[in-house]
Amino acid sequence: MNTLFPGYFISFEGIDGAGKSTHIDAFSKLMQERYSDREVVVTREPGGTPLGEKLRALLLEAPMNLETEALLMFAARREHIAQVIEPALRLGKIVISDRFTDASFAYQGGGRGLSLAKLDDLERWVQETSDGHLLQPNITFLFDLPGEIAQARRSKVRVPDKFEQMDLGFFEKVRQEYLRRAKADPSRFYLVDATQTPEQIWSELQALKIKL
Ligand code: TYD
Repeated sequence: MNTLFPGYFISFEGIDGAGKSTHIDAFSKLMQERYSDREVVVTREPGGTPLGEKLRALLLEAPMNLETEALLMFAARREHIAQVIEPALRLGKIVISDRFTDASFAYQGGGRGLSLAKLDDLERWVQETSDGHLLQPNITFLFDLPGEIAQARRSKVRVPDKFEQMDLGFFEKVRQEYLRRAKADPSRFYLVDATQTPEQIWSELQALKIKL
């Protein structure tokens, strides 16, 4: 159970090429089978609402000022929380999001260098509930691996978007910020060694006992 709402909130994170997207679909089906009395909602950031998807298209393609980028990420997130995440959690649903706020700390903070104090402010602004609590995922799966391995995987499979075109140094900084967030909140994070094969990762995820 979420401490604020009857639902349960799960996020997936990791640098581009870590392999998280491969597992989200199967994982959500597994959760739906295990908890057949609950509805599972699968969503993503940036995105997850009609407005958020429009912002996603801009964010992933258009070069922009760093502050603008962070504000748009959090604007999309505010809409996502208000329209999708919070209503679902209030109804006891399981929400699985492909990325959430840790990605803003990792990419805009670690990668591009926005001050973490500004990101802390935005996080509080956007995620604070009316009674002063901070909405956070109950569990965050962090797919962790060295930047070079992720880069080699990406180059095989897709045309890079704006973030995926960044150099290795950028992704190492993104990775380090993810790891810093994980260390600061160990009870929320579950680290997945993403250098493993997809089969190994899948058995690990299947074996995990998640208590709603
Ligand atoms: P991603 O989740 O990797 O989707 P796909 O698998 O379709 O490429 O792409 C989203 C990109 O947006 C990714 O490069 C990380 C970036 N991003 C941020 O920079 N900040 C954020 O707050 C979020 C949510 C994503």
